[in-house]
Amino acid sequence: GIGFYPTLSMAPIVKDDEQTGFDQELVIKFSHVVAENTPKGLAASHFAQRVKETTGGRVKVEVFPNGVLYTESDEFEALMRGNVQMIAPSFSNVSEVVPAFALWDLPFAFRGNEAILEAFSGEIGKRLFDKLGAKNTVGLAYWGNGFRQITSNRGPIVHPSDFQGLKFRILPSKVIETYFHALDVKTVPIPFNDVYRALESGSVDGEENSISNINSKKFYQVQKYMTLSDHSYLGYAVLMNKSYWDRIPADLKEQIMDAMRETTSWANQNAIRMNQEQLIEIERRRDIRITTLSPEEKAEWIRVWNALYPQFEGIIGRDLMASIRKLQQ
Ligand code: LMR
Repeated sequence: GIGFYPTLSMAPIVKDDEQTGFDQELVIKFSHVVAENTPKGLAASHFAQRVKETTGGRVKVEVFPNGVLYTESDEFEALMRGNVQMIAPSFSNVSEVVPAFALWDLPFAFRGNEAILEAFSGEIGKRLFDKLGAKNTVGLAYWGNGFRQITSNRGPIVHPSDFQGLKFRILPSKVIETYFHALDVKTVPIPFNDVYRALESGSVDGEENSISNINSKKFYQVQKYMTLSDHSYLGYAVLMNKSYWDRIPADLKEQIMDAMRETTSWANQNAIRMNQEQLIEIERRRDIRITTLSPEEKAEWIRVWNALYPQFEGIIGRDLMASIRKLQQ
């Protein structure tokens, strides 16, 4: 009381750890594998900013892009162990742990972005997230990227037979593997940030991806042909470690989810826009020869891949396949 510590009584009251399980500021480490200026990268930073606002700075989301913290081969493991609190892997990568997530890889299953958004917010999205609890993971949102296109150094790829004998980089998904093998394409899973080198060295002949990924990683520099096929869908499950999530006080959880809902509706529109704009950029650059499939040509691909659906049902499960058919009606 004699004035040596004049500020002491004004120090903020720090909630103790026993009450909240957390220090004063809650830090959520969020790891992903793409660049910042991409649909997922921008969504992650948008979310970090919104969380700061909705929680009045009580929660801080630290974003680690470009696989600097974890790559897709080890991020799910890191999440389950709690070494990182948030990740947003592609559905295909999640399918390594929960096979039904390969549902989004089903060829020509979704007619356009509206069907995708409906699946995200409806029965399909919910059923898939229900499967995550067993992996100590909770699904917070679905962030879309876009439909996949084909790039290759041999081409142009127009008919199913044009794929014969090629070797493709794929994501680790049983559905993707199955549809390429049916075209007599050899497949090899390669982490995203190694794909450019693999294409450049010719260790693989091609790959499939969203326009935004083809553009942000400059695959057009090391591929001669691109076929606009929109044949399957690339998107992300935004995941949090469940033990961590369960320990967050209810009021903060609600504020975090407010930030997530706002981010998600923004991000899913932004992704559609970015893919449209970047297709125009790729076209302007004229580095890669672009082929758009006619409806008749697309029908040839659909014919080959439709025959695989009984196999796909074995991977995805009967109930989810029924939900997809419902969505298609
Ligand atoms: C890929 O590896 O091709 C994509 O999953 C990368 C990403 O996360 O968008």
